[in-house]
Amino acid sequence: MSATPFDQRDGWIWYDGQLVPWKDAKLHVLSHGLHYGSSVFEGERAYGGEIFKSTQHSERLKKSAQILDFEIPYSVAEIDAAKRLVLEKNGMTDAYLRPVAWRGSEMMGVAAQANKIHLAIAAWEWPSYFDPAQKMKGIRIDMADYRRPDPATAPSTAKAAGLYMICTISKHKAERKGYADALMLDWQGRVAECTGANVFFVKDGVIHTPIADCFLDGITRQTVIELATRRGLEVAERRIMPEELSGFQECFITGTAAEVTPVSEVGPYTYTPGGITKMLMDDYTAEVQPKAKAA
Ligand SMILES: Cc1ncc(COP(=O)(O)O)c(C=O)c1O
Repeated sequence: MSATPFDQRDGWIWYDGQLVPWKDAKLHVLSHGLHYGSSVFEGERAYGGEIFKSTQHSERLKKSAQILDFEIPYSVAEIDAAKRLVLEKNGMTDAYLRPVAWRGSEMMGVAAQANKIHLAIAAWEWPSYFDPAQKMKGIRIDMADYRRPDPATAPSTAKAAGLYMICTISKHKAERKGYADALMLDWQGRVAECTGANVFFVKDGVIHTPIADCFLDGITRQTVIELATRRGLEVAERRIMPEELSGFQECFITGTAAEVTPVSEVGPYTYTPGGITKMLMDDYTAEVQPKAKAA
């Protein structure tokens, strides 16, 4: 457990165009984003001073807001620049960045047509999970009770705060049972993703991962698919039924926070983190390093 709560830290947070002292980056209790879930966010990592796929994250943030029917009043380039400023002002090179946009307080009903759209960007140090040898033991994952929502029920492809309500419930339940995370099925009962990461399986040298059409198509997921393809590995993006979980040899999850994390158990099924997982972990670590700038 972190000693200092997140609202009591030192540093600077970018808030509606200004860098403000960390402890002053507040919002009113009567904010639409708090009451009605009109909030979208990103999770990104900087490695060696460079934010990995920064522009793609800024584009996703703008897109998530549009899916929730609001427009962030900053361009992708402005958001990218603000993120760089946050790192610079806080003197950080290896950090996790959290941009968040929400509807403000002008109207406090379901309709909020006139509400100001706010954007804040914070960054903090969040080292990668333990050392590689420890990491290769794999994490244990529970099966979640909740399913990812039907795209007809919720804006399921946005990185929207409201979609995380069932993730927190599921992760808490898993942690109480001693698991690290929970695997959620989709609304049709097919394997979907974890509470904050996508999932991959390996069988006989082929990588299998669910089609990301009703949950977040992670930027790490896309990167890992590209890295595997570059290695000449076959990646099958397909519908995966829970009954198939017993037949895979390796399993790993991907996400900005989790990076590539091996999995040793999903519910009653066990996996042995192996060569393909290790290779993709290493390839991902190499991929996120800042690229040498052309002279
Ligand atoms: C629900 C969920 N799925 C997947 C991911 C992985 O996305 P990314 O690789 O873009 O971080 C995340 C992390 O942000 C997430 O919260």
